[in-house]
Amino acid sequence: MKRLYSIVSLLTVFLSVVLFGSCRNQATEDAQMRAFVDKLMAQMTLEEKLGQLNLPVGGDIVTGEARSSHSAEAIRQGKVGGLFNLKGAAAIRDVQRIAVEQSRLGIPLLFGMDVIHGYETVFPLPLALSCSWDLQAIERSAQIAAREATADGICWTFSPMVDICHDGRWGRISEGSGEDPYLGSRIAEAMVKGYQGASLSDKETMMACVKHFALYGAVEAGREYNNVYPDDYHAFNEYMQPYKAAVDAGAGSVMAAFNTVHGVPSMGNKWLLTDLLREQWGFDGFVVSDYTSVRHMAENGVNFSLEDGAIQCLEAGLDMDMVSEGFVALANAVREGRCSRQAVDDACRRILEAKYKLGLFDDPYLYCDPTRREAVILCDEHRAEARRIAGECMVLLKNENELLPLQRKGTIALIGPLADARNNMAGTWSVAAVPGRYKTVKEGLEDALRGTGARLLYAKGSNLMYDARMEAIATIFGHEMRDSRSDAAMRQEALSIARKADIIIAAMGEASEMSGECASRVNLEMPDAQHDLLVELSNLGKPIVLVHFAGRPTVLNWETEHLPVILESWFSGSETGDAIADVLFGEVNPSGKLTVQLPRHVGQYPFSYRQMRTSRPNEGGEFAKYSTCYADVSSKPLYPFGYGLSYTHFAYSDFYLTDSVMPLDGSVEVHVTITNTGSRAGAEVVQLYIGDRQARGVRPYRELRGFERIELAAGESREVVFTLNAERMGYYEPADLKWTLEAGDIEVMVGANSRDTQMRLLHVL
Ligand code: BGC
Repeated sequence: MKRLYSIVSLLTVFLSVVLFGSCRNQATEDAQMRAFVDKLMAQMTLEEKLGQLNLPVGGDIVTGEARSSHSAEAIRQGKVGGLFNLKGAAAIRDVQRIAVEQSRLGIPLLFGMDVIHGYETVFPLPLALSCSWDLQAIERSAQIAAREATADGICWTFSPMVDICHDGRWGRISEGSGEDPYLGSRIAEAMVKGYQGASLSDKETMMACVKHFALYGAVEAGREYNNVYPDDYHAFNEYMQPYKAAVDAGAGSVMAAFNTVHGVPSMGNKWLLTDLLREQWGFDGFVVSDYTSVRHMAENGVNFSLEDGAIQCLEAGLDMDMVSEGFVALANAVREGRCSRQAVDDACRRILEAKYKLGLFDDPYLYCDPTRREAVILCDEHRAEARRIAGECMVLLKNENELLPLQRKGTIALIGPLADARNNMAGTWSVAAVPGRYKTVKEGLEDALRGTGARLLYAKGSNLMYDARMEAIATIFGHEMRDSRSDAAMRQEALSIARKADIIIAAMGEASEMSGECASRVNLEMPDAQHDLLVELSNLGKPIVLVHFAGRPTVLNWETEHLPVILESWFSGSETGDAIADVLFGEVNPSGKLTVQLPRHVGQYPFSYRQMRTSRPNEGGEFAKYSTCYADVSSKPLYPFGYGLSYTHFAYSDFYLTDSVMPLDGSVEVHVTITNTGSRAGAEVVQLYIGDRQARGVRPYRELRGFERIELAAGESREVVFTLNAERMGYYEPADLKWTLEAGDIEVMVGANSRDTQMRLLHVL
C-alpha cells in the first residue's frame, strides 16, 4: 500500500512538473510573442496597420508579372496582410519577396487557400468523409492536405467548414459533416488537429480557419446566402457546438459567415465575434470576413457606405477583410475619430501574432521550399491513404441477395454520364485538383479487371439531363460533359451493350458542381435523362448496381424500389476510380454510415433525425389525424441517420448499464457486445444515443452522444464501453443556455444506426 502510495505521489510530482513546465513554457513563448509584436507595432504607421487587415485575392499576381501588378504595388506600400488562392511555391516565394524585401517594414504575407478536402491528392468531400466516422482517418486527411499545401507555399486554409445542416436543398451541405452537432464537433477537432499538428511553425502544418461563424447551415429554405432564424436555444443545441469544439481544439482563425445572426450580419456582429467568441469561448486567434462580405454590410441595408460597414465590422471584432478593401481605407475615419484606434491595433496585433505563430517572422519562405513539391505532392503514400479513406466513406444503401461484391468474370456493362467524367471525380471545392492525373470510374474498373478474363463494355448512355441550359449550370467551372449525340442514339448504344452483359453498373447522379457554393436546388431526384435511362435498363431484367454520385442527400425512392444495389459513392476525390473498384470487387468491405438521413421527398426539409419531442407525436411516421405527420408521404426518412450496410453482418448483444440510477454528479457505463456473424472481416460504427424525457427544454427523441468504429474479423466479438455522465449527456438549458443535465429519466440506446436501436432506461437523480 505504502509502495503504491509513493508511486502515485511520484507520478503526481512528475505530472505537475511536466504540466506546470509546459504551461510556463507556453507563458514564456506568449510573452516573447507579445514583446516582438509590441516592438513591431511601435514602428508601424496607421496605414501599415490597416494594411495588415487587408486580404485581396491573389488573382492578378502571376510569377514574373507580380512586380507590375496592382497587388504588387499595394504590397510594396504595406497595404496587404495576405493573399489567397495563389498556387505554387515559386509564385508565392516571388510575391513574399516583394513584401519582405521591398516594403518598409518587411512584414511577411499570409498565403491562404480553400484547401477543403485535400490538395492535389483529393480526399472525399467533407460530407462523404464524415460518413467514415473514422476520426483518425479524417485527421490524417487534414494532415496530408497540410503537408501538400505547405509544400506549395500555403500556410493557411479556409477549413474546416463545420456548419451543421438539416436541409439537403442547400448545396453547401457537401462541405460540412452532416446534421449532428456531436459528431460534427468530434470531426471539427480532428480536422483542426490534422491541419495544425503539434506546432503551427512546423513547415508541414498550416493554420485552420473555422467557418462559417455562425449558423450558415440553417439558411432558410436551403437557399444559398439566405437568412437564418434559429432562436438561441436551437442555435446553441443544434449548431454552435462544432464551432466551439474547433476553437477549443486551438483553431488559429475563424471566418465570419455571410448571414445575419439576431438580425445583424455576422461580420459586423459584436455579440457574436467578441462577446461569445472571444469573451465566453476564449478564442485568441483572428477573425476573417467571408469573400467581399464587408461590402455586404451595405447590401444588407445595415450600413449605407463601405466605410460605415467596415467600421461596424472592425469594432465588432472582425480582424481581416477578405477582398472588400474596406478596412484598408479607414485611415481618415480613424484620424477623424469615427473609428477606434484600439480596434485597429487589436486586429493588427492578432494578425501579426498569427504570422508569428506560423514562424513567418523567423523564415518568411518557410513554406516555399521548392524541393518539397516533388517528394510530397500527389505522392504514392498520400494517394494510397486517399484511396483507403475513400473506401471507408462510401455508404452501401442496398445490396439485395448480396449481389455485391462482384466476381471478376463474365461481361460487365458500365453505363452513365459519370462513368468516364474525369473532371468530375474530385468533387466540388477542390481548388488545387489536377484532374488529368486522376482515374475515371471506367479506368479504375479496367485496371481492376485487367488479366481476369472479365469483359468491360462502356457507354455513356445519356447526358446529365435533357435541358442543355440546366446542364451548363450543373457543370459550371469548365467541367462540361455534354455529348453532341441525340438522346435516342446515346440510349440505344447503352441498351445494346447492356443486352450483351451479365450485370450492369450504372454510374449516375449529380455532376460535381451540382453541390457546393451557390448550388441550392429543390429537385433532388435523379436528373431526368439519367432516370429515363435507368428505367429502360431495368426493363431489361438484368441486375443493376447503381454507383451513385452526389454531394448532398438525394431522393432515391424509385431506385430503392427498382434496383437491387445502391452504393452511395458521393464524390470520392482523386482516387475515386480505384476506390469504387475496391468496393465493388470486395477488396474493401464498405463501412460508411450516413451522417445525413436521406428523405423521401424534398418537401420534408428542413429535416433531421434529431426530431424534437412534440405535443402531438407520431412514432410511425404515417398519417394519423391530429398527430405530427404528412397526409401524402411518411414523415420518416428513406434511409436513417447512421445507416449503412456491410458485406458482413453484425449482431448486438449483452447490452446493459452498470447501474440504472445515476446521481447528477456520478457516471454509469454502457456495455454492448458486437459480433461479426458473417464470413468476412468488416468495420462497424457502434452508435450511442440518448433521449432525455424530462428536461426543462424540449429535447430530441434521440441524439447521438457516443460512437466507436471497430474492425472485427469474421466471427470475432468485441465489447464496447461508453461512459455516461452529466457532461456527456448535458444540453444548453433554455433559461441561461448553460450546459446542464437535470434529474429525470433518460433513454439510453445503442445500435447500428439511429433507427435500429435497443433501449435501457436510466434514472438521473
Ligand atoms: C466562401 C468561403 C470561401 C471564400 C474564399 C466564399 O465565397 O463562402 O467558404 O472560403 O469564398 O474562397
